[in-house]
Amino acid sequence: MLKQDASIVIQAKERCKEYGLDPSSLPTFSQCLSSDAYAKKIKTYSDILDMVKFFMNKFLSSFEGVPFLVVVTDDEGHILRFEGDSTVLDTVNQLGIKEGVRYIEKDMGVNAVSLALRYDRPIQLAGEDHYCQVYQNTACYSVPFRYKGNNKPLGTISLLTHIPYDNPLLLMLLHTVVDSIERELLVQEKNKKLFILNQGLLQTSYQAVIVTDAQGDIIDCNENGKQLVKLMSSKRSDGNLSSIFYAEKIGSYFSNVHSDKQEITGIEVSIDIDGTLHYFLLDVIPIFDDGHSLIYIVGSLRDISEMKSAEAYLRNSEKLSVVGQMAAGVAHEIRNPLTTVKGLLQLSKDQFQSEHYNLIMSEIDRMNFIVSELLVLGKPQAVHYSEVEFISILDDVLKLFEGQAVMNGITITRDIKSSGRIYCDPNQIKQVFINILKNAAEAMPYGGKIHIIVDREGSEQLIRFVDNGEGIPEDVLNKIGQPFCTTKKDGNGLGIMMTKKMIDSHNGKIQFNSQVQSGTTVDIHLPLPHL
Ligand SMILES: Nc1ncnc2c1ncn2[C@@H]1O[C@H](COP(=O)(O)OP(=O)(O)OP(=O)(O)O)[C@@H](O)[C@H]1O
Ligand SMILES: [Mg+2]
Repeated sequence: MLKQDASIVIQAKERCKEYGLDPSSLPTFSQCLSSDAYAKKIKTYSDILDMVKFFMNKFLSSFEGVPFLVVVTDDEGHILRFEGDSTVLDTVNQLGIKEGVRYIEKDMGVNAVSLALRYDRPIQLAGEDHYCQVYQNTACYSVPFRYKGNNKPLGTISLLTHIPYDNPLLLMLLHTVVDSIERELLVQEKNKKLFILNQGLLQTSYQAVIVTDAQGDIIDCNENGKQLVKLMSSKRSDGNLSSIFYAEKIGSYFSNVHSDKQEITGIEVSIDIDGTLHYFLLDVIPIFDDGHSLIYIVGSLRDISEMKSAEAYLRNSEKLSVVGQMAAGVAHEIRNPLTTVKGLLQLSKDQFQSEHYNLIMSEIDRMNFIVSELLVLGKPQAVHYSEVEFISILDDVLKLFEGQAVMNGITITRDIKSSGRIYCDPNQIKQVFINILKNAAEAMPYGGKIHIIVDREGSEQLIRFVDNGEGIPEDVLNKIGQPFCTTKKDGNGLGIMMTKKMIDSHNGKIQFNSQVQSGTTVDIHLPLPHL
């Protein structure tokens, strides 16, 4: 039992005498919070007041029929809230004790609230312990409370009743309840912090996180998760996706975790986002409570689309390097005999009919061309970089190409908007233009038009080749630039691959846009030297 020092009351009564308080008169209250200040206080103490209400109602319910009134004050003794018996409340109100009013010794004499705050300890006053006669019919128990580990009490919780119900055990009970309230407030505070930390972790995660309850109903998501859920919902005819179990592809993994209670990690799933397949690495983890019942399922999806395309790029480069090594080997072996054959043929020219001779020679030249292309693939070619007028390279190529174009019924037009000097290997850039023009011409066996636009885009030189040929089917477009990708009877499927390789080594970009039956546009961007 909490033992109270009788001297506390004696000293308090002494003080009241010194203040000149008349014990027989009705106390008046000199200090009361304005309604604004009161509203502000209530807001600051709202968590505490809610908790006190919950605990004190429980406490009061176990004392049915006993007229108890609970009074909550702030650290200065201002009354914030009453709970409990309405008859006691009426009496108290009639004595001028209302919300906002401040308990002070100078106004109301010895009282439990002021003493509990002054000595920072539980206090009980019954009957004549009170200085003012008007309070001598009551018993009062007051306990200071703390919050967020504060040293100073943040206020008091008091119990008021009529004197016949006075029982010293009540102070101990009240003390225990206040203890529980303080502990619960600390837990609540910790939970709040944990919640904020959780939200912080969730929201800053690059992954899409989706949390469901045990039934698969989505209860929380981070921003990335929300976007994904929105996207999956929009694909359903009813536009609703409350349960993840009905989500495309990933839904079945959540269902499996739900039924097997086993986590699933590292599953690769693809989701169509605006017509593009995005790849995700999915982990689905069941969360259990202490009793081993499933309470949550947490799914996290990491977007690995970029990694996938890098992988594909790498695979392609590997393929290229194998092809390159093979090609170089084969080319090396073929080139020498080919030179011998060509030399011997030239010596024996007289023994052939002239059209046979010409045909054999042109076929040998074609073989030589393929061999030299293959050699470029395998070995890094000697490159000679210099700064040249871009337009002069194009002029040289067109001079070569125009004759063949006229013969094939192809008209070439050009629109030179802006052109500068570029730092390049002119021979490689010429080869690039030839490959593109050759393709355009081959796409127009019955003639057509090639329009060339030269312009500057930011710090890059753009050259655009537009033809109105047969166009490139989508499946070819997806593979264009891969070795041996060709649709032509006599094609090698190496032209674009070589072109890409050369543009790459110039830090440039090449892009194809094509529509079957209407034509193809090839854009090449090359960096201009810094001014
Ligand atoms: N302008 C174009 N119009 C239509 N199809 C094109 C065009 N450019 C390229 N293609 C398509 O892309 C494929 C690959 O072109 P690429 O230049 O790499 O090889 P190719 O022309 O078939 O053979 P080569 O190695 O002799 O150039 C072609 O076979 C063709 O189907
Ligand atoms: Mg080609």
